[in-house]
Amino acid sequence: MNKRLFWKLCLIIATGVVALFYAINMLAQHTEEDMSMLAPEDRQQLNDWGQQAEKLYYAGNKAALHDWLETLKKQENTWVSIVEYEFTKIAGDPLNDIYTERFFLGRSVDWKIHLYLNYNPVMDIPFEQGQKSFLIKLPKRMRPGSYWQTTRFILKIILPMLLLSLLSWVLYHHIMDPLKKLERATREFSKGHFAVRVNQSIGKRNDEISQLANTFDQMAHRIGALINSQRQLIADLSHELRPPLTRLDIAVQSLQDQHNCLQNLERVERESKQIRKLVDDTLTLAWLENERPDIQLETVELVDLIDVIIDDAQFEFPQNKMRIKLPDSALIQQSNHRAIGQATENILRNALRYTPNNKTVEIILSEEPKEFILSIGDEGPGVPEDMLESIFQPFFRVDKARMAHTNSFGLGLALAKRQLESVAARIKASNKPNGGLLMQIYLPKNDKFKT
Ligand SMILES: Nc1ncnc2c1ncn2[C@@H]1O[C@H](COP(=O)(O)OP(=O)(O)O)[C@@H](O)[C@H]1O
Ligand SMILES: [Mg+2]
Repeated sequence: MNKRLFWKLCLIIATGVVALFYAINMLAQHTEEDMSMLAPEDRQQLNDWGQQAEKLYYAGNKAALHDWLETLKKQENTWVSIVEYEFTKIAGDPLNDIYTERFFLGRSVDWKIHLYLNYNPVMDIPFEQGQKSFLIKLPKRMRPGSYWQTTRFILKIILPMLLLSLLSWVLYHHIMDPLKKLERATREFSKGHFAVRVNQSIGKRNDEISQLANTFDQMAHRIGALINSQRQLIADLSHELRPPLTRLDIAVQSLQDQHNCLQNLERVERESKQIRKLVDDTLTLAWLENERPDIQLETVELVDLIDVIIDDAQFEFPQNKMRIKLPDSALIQQSNHRAIGQATENILRNALRYTPNNKTVEIILSEEPKEFILSIGDEGPGVPEDMLESIFQPFFRVDKARMAHTNSFGLGLALAKRQLESVAARIKASNKPNGGLLMQIYLPKNDKFKT
């Protein structure tokens, strides 16, 4: 899904914050209600006083009642009174008993006391026998909710702050943890540890950040492989340059000593040509690997191209026979003459070089629905099965020792393979059942581009 991280954050923040404030509001309401009630022991005390007043009143001892009220008043530093009331109907229906029973002059001990009142309310404890009440202004010590302001501050300010900080912390880690891993991997990579990858280590997630990690991994893979292959190339090149340079040195030395002048000059020329070819081929290979070149795409007439290559080869290797099977024409679109030409030439030269005199090299171009297949088969020694892949690696030669003094550096097939890849073609090497190497080049027709 697009913008996955956005939706994830949206979901967490929107639902999280709304749920948080809803819960805090409920909690505050509930706490306020709880804190507005008289403490059970205070409620009990007020009821006890009411009962005592009632008892004293019905005992008929007014002086004792008066004394008791005075003592209570002083003791609690408040206002107390006993009242009697009756209802007189002025008009309308007669009064129901319910009204007279439930009537309160002050507040019942079971009601909540409003926490915002700035005075202490009068409490009303009705006599059991009715029509009379013991009234007492709520003593200061019994006033509920003394910590309400602090509690409210904690509930409405501190608690949301803490919970939102926690949410921020979780979100921060959700985003920053993988980014930190990516940063660490980038640093490792810049130090030359090309094997670092991040996607594995950030766990199972599927959002913009895992896409970023994936892209990093692809980049690390490509750049790492490239740097390694270029390093290898440079190492191999300098290794290969040493023998011809040594031979050059010897030839120049002999020239200075005036021995075999002409022969040594020829040697110098040959060696310097070899070195030039070696350096040219290596640079072309490095360029093909490095740049993934944007080659010029053109229509290629394969038959014409192969004809020219065969002509040149016949001239160079007159001692070998060639069996050729080509169709009248073979057009491929969106390809490149130079790339296909050089690759084919390299492969054909190999075939001719490894085929003994008077033996035959066979060149067949066949057509498939989506591609042409150019097969070049020879009657040479072939290549050991386990080396059929390796011959396409730069500087690989089957018999390195034997080739040391020839101008064979093992770059031809490496170049051919990359040149063919640059026009989306493939190459495959196999041994023919009766001996000899068979090279097959698969060239896509690309005729969907036909105009
Ligand atoms: N037609 C062939 N028959 C046998 N061996 C071959 C053939 N073509 C290539 N090879 C082997 O593959 C190696 C690599 O070939 P290539 O890249 O063209 O390098 P080079 O021709 O410079 O040796 C050769 O050294 C040789 O050992
Ligand atoms: Mg070759």
